[in-house]
Amino acid sequence: MVNEQNKTVLVTGGAGYIGSELVRILLQDNFRVVALDNLSFGGESLLSFWGNPAFTFIKGDIRNDDDLRAALKDVDYVCHLAAIVGEPPCKKYPELALEVNWNASVRLYELCEEAGVERFVFASTCSNYGKMAVANSLLDETAELNPISLYSETKVNFEKYLLSHTNSTITRTILRFSTVYGISPRPRFDLTVNEFTRDAALGKPLLIYGEHFWRPYCHVSDLARSVKIALTADKGKVNGEAFNVGDTAQNYTKKMLAAEIGREIPSLEVNYHPAVTDPRDYKVNCDKIRDVLGFKISKTVPNGIREIASLFREKVISEPMNARYGNV
Ligand SMILES: NC(=O)c1ccc[n+]([C@@H]2O[C@H](COP(=O)([O-])OP(=O)(O)OC[C@H]3O[C@@H](n4cnc5c(N)ncnc54)[C@H](O)[C@@H]3O)[C@@H](O)[C@H]2O)c1
Repeated sequence: MVNEQNKTVLVTGGAGYIGSELVRILLQDNFRVVALDNLSFGGESLLSFWGNPAFTFIKGDIRNDDDLRAALKDVDYVCHLAAIVGEPPCKKYPELALEVNWNASVRLYELCEEAGVERFVFASTCSNYGKMAVANSLLDETAELNPISLYSETKVNFEKYLLSHTNSTITRTILRFSTVYGISPRPRFDLTVNEFTRDAALGKPLLIYGEHFWRPYCHVSDLARSVKIALTADKGKVNGEAFNVGDTAQNYTKKMLAAEIGREIPSLEVNYHPAVTDPRDYKVNCDKIRDVLGFKISKTVPNGIREIASLFREKVISEPMNARYGNV
């Protein structure tokens, strides 16, 4: 059993959408937390941790050895979330994506070995499945990975790198996150559920491409909690393992999402476009993380839609279309 009070966790990308929620959960559970982030999207997400003696922030870049060494000092566990996230930014900045998602990730792992880190959890993605070979099948962790973008290529390559380190003393765990929704200290409104609900709440009609394409969805607080569960699980259950993170019942097509949003915002107008802009189409089975680690979601897609809709109804976000809520 892990005694949290003795453990220090490095969260790379700790100022990000999922990272800042993870920092919050780890601090709440009495870990000491070091966050390393280059603040590509600002640092306001960290304000509520500021001054907490268990929290240290290092503004730095995972491509820089000195920053990595400083961040790894006296660290027991590493959660690696820093990345160029999603296909659009990876397509726009391919060299940067390779440097951050591949080269810097490999270097981070090498330095973790030097520093004697005990556990390493990698934030991967269900995007790695790409497109289901058989329509409507459920893909579990044994399904073939089929990366169809630079983003998922970098993620798949780093997964393989981690899994190839069978003699490493570090407990290595891969978490393949579902597409995220919900509010965290760094809100993002460029992810499907959040973006559709924001636009609907602002009275904009939705224009939906690929309405029949499936994706699994998971709330940001549940995803962040899954990282903590993986960090504290018996090593034998998580070492060298990949887990899909989410819930098998939370696979939706975009058309189904629009129907859910329409239940919350009846004035919603939806238009469908026949063009396919994103060929990814995958339904995911998330039973392994439930059965092996006891992980259960606490929120569903309809809960998330209500959460986002109320945020806009109450006008809590003053500039909802501001680019800082997106990643490109
Ligand atoms: N959001 C999703 O739907 C989703 C789904 C599956 C997997 N993931 C994975 O989860 C992780 C976190 O995603 P997110 O949605 O929180 O994204 P995010 O963009 O909000 O967070 C990433 C953070 O990494 C930081 N960062 C980027 N490059 C850096 C560098 N070179 N050095 C230091 N910091 C750097 C950014 O400043 C940002 O704060 C990523 O690894 C992503 O691939 C996200």
